[in-house]
Amino acid sequence: MLVSAKEMLEKARDGHYAVGQFNINNLEWTKAILMTAEELKSPVILGVSEGAGKYMTGYKTVVGMVNGMLEELKITVPVALHLDHGSYEGALKCIEAGFSSVMFDGSHYPIEENVEKTTELVKICAEKGLSLEAEVGSIGGEEDGVVGMGEVADPAECKRIADLGVTMLAAGIGNIHGKYPENWPGLRFDALEAIKAQTGNMPLVLHGGTGIPEDMIKKAIDLGVAKINVNTECQLSFAAATREYIEAGKDLQGKGFDPRKLLAPGTEAIKATVKEKMELFGSIGKA
Ligand code: 13P
Repeated sequence: MLVSAKEMLEKARDGHYAVGQFNINNLEWTKAILMTAEELKSPVILGVSEGAGKYMTGYKTVVGMVNGMLEELKITVPVALHLDHGSYEGALKCIEAGFSSVMFDGSHYPIEENVEKTTELVKICAEKGLSLEAEVGSIGGEEDGVVGMGEVADPAECKRIADLGVTMLAAGIGNIHGKYPENWPGLRFDALEAIKAQTGNMPLVLHGGTGIPEDMIKKAIDLGVAKINVNTECQLSFAAATREYIEAGKDLQGKGFDPRKLLAPGTEAIKATVKEKMELFGSIGKA
């Protein structure tokens, strides 16, 4: 059964490790992540962006697939199904469809509007026992080839949003989605410390987990990060393994074109990436 992310994140915060959010795109992604979490006895959060939800034909399909897999694969570790960077309307749709956790990303709104919409969702999620992630300070990333540097959140605004009663807070500290550019100056630990000082016990979320050096990940966890999002890295390892299969001509040998064979190396590559991240985040054996 899907669970809210609240308990797993509070345990992670208190135990000084982080739970990984791994974004899913289809059946192979979901299966690879769930099987790895179960094998390693790690709690896990499955992230679904609005785009990925649409790709999978809608949130109900996602809920059906994930719930089916939890049962068929006999998953015993805590699993949260979480909307990633949701709009207000998207969050409502996911709640309706059966997600156990949602993120409302109001970081692009003026703070008053972010507060207002987040407040509404705090109420709805509390009634249903769901976890809610809010965001302050937008996370940069690549769009049309231009890499925007991530914003650094204002600690006072972080406190305002944290005090509304959200479960977890994503605060921009110079992190960005996708690959980091050569000249990336690194995470702003001074900002993270200031945010932590203002938000107290609130589990903090680090987006853009792909490509952040290990020592920075560890330091971020030490400073209060309890959830780390990874998306691009699984896509890169899936693509590299699939490329290798095709370039070796394996799709042309025997029944190598069978999608169950063609997609197998990529699926295994996702498992390896997830394992590597769970080791780094310290969540293995914490289920
Ligand atoms: P990456 O794609 O950089 O790993 O970021 C994932 C993320 O933060 C999803 O919200």
